[in-house]
Amino acid sequence: MDTAIIGGGIIGASIAWRLLREGLRPVLFDAGTLGREASWAGAGMLVPGTEFSTPTPLASLAVRSLAMYPGFVSTLERDSGRTIDFSLCGSIEMAADAREADAFEERIRLQRDIGIEAHLRKSQGPWHAELHYPRDGQVDPRDIIAAIRTVFERDSPYALRERAAVQSIEPHRDHVLVHTAHGPFRARTAVLAAGAWSTDIPILGPALAVEPAFPVKGHLASWTFPAGALGPIRRRGHHYLLQRRSGTVVAGATQEHAGFDRTVHAHAVEEIARECALLWPELGASPPEHSWVGFRPATASGHPEIRRVGATPLWLAYGHFRNGILLAPATAESVAGEIVAAIK
Ligand code: GLY
Repeated sequence: MDTAIIGGGIIGASIAWRLLREGLRPVLFDAGTLGREASWAGAGMLVPGTEFSTPTPLASLAVRSLAMYPGFVSTLERDSGRTIDFSLCGSIEMAADAREADAFEERIRLQRDIGIEAHLRKSQGPWHAELHYPRDGQVDPRDIIAAIRTVFERDSPYALRERAAVQSIEPHRDHVLVHTAHGPFRARTAVLAAGAWSTDIPILGPALAVEPAFPVKGHLASWTFPAGALGPIRRRGHHYLLQRRSGTVVAGATQEHAGFDRTVHAHAVEEIARECALLWPELGASPPEHSWVGFRPATASGHPEIRRVGATPLWLAYGHFRNGILLAPATAESVAGEIVAAIK
């Protein structure tokens, strides 16, 4: 195999898909089912506007990745024959008072330098002001995973290794051994893209400096409404609402340091429902139909690890925290591009 990709979330799967399109032979190892962790849980907000307030390289990467999204989605739709729920619906962040609106003015000035368009308006509703980001968007990450699965099942079915936990990774000068319960697999290159679990997998051999990944738990919830009822994404702080094409309204999210605790707590869901009803009164007081949790892959620095590890044939692609869905196209382009250049 040309590349072993460890972790089949949206990051690993997108890298694998790009490599397959380049004519390489990637193999995707996942401890469970493709895309069933953070990529399944994620709302799919593509919102550099409400996620990045200051000009940093990560903010620029996010803006570039959003610009790549229409092409990423249309190519994947063509390749898979499946429809992906994606739209550049815009987003709105609410300010409660003049002080918050002033902070928005400052943010607009800073964001202009990274190419984020924003407009501050007086609110029609109970809020003091609304900050509009007309270029923000949303995607259903489950559609992306389903489309990549379709491509692999058609073109390279043996490349999907699910329920195949990687026990350790052993990089050598010109190949990588990937150890699983079924024995070692030898690959010319490898990518560690196992989200919040990435650094739980030991890297054998000389010590390599990689930043630890850890989980930040998020609760989310959903309701069914007539399609098109919500309009742009609505947000205040960590609380947000978006609507899928099907009508499902998804609301999030808590940020909790709770390890890999999969418990869905009623109080966390109630908090989301209460805060989101302030953003969109139509939500009313009805309890959500579904609620679930996911584990964002965080790093202490707040930056993702997207790079080759020294001169080894091992790449890192994890730690995307709140923005894995948004950053998938740019991450895949960068990592797959470097691997193609190294191999071909
Ligand atoms: N991307 C939104 C969140 O992490 O809650």
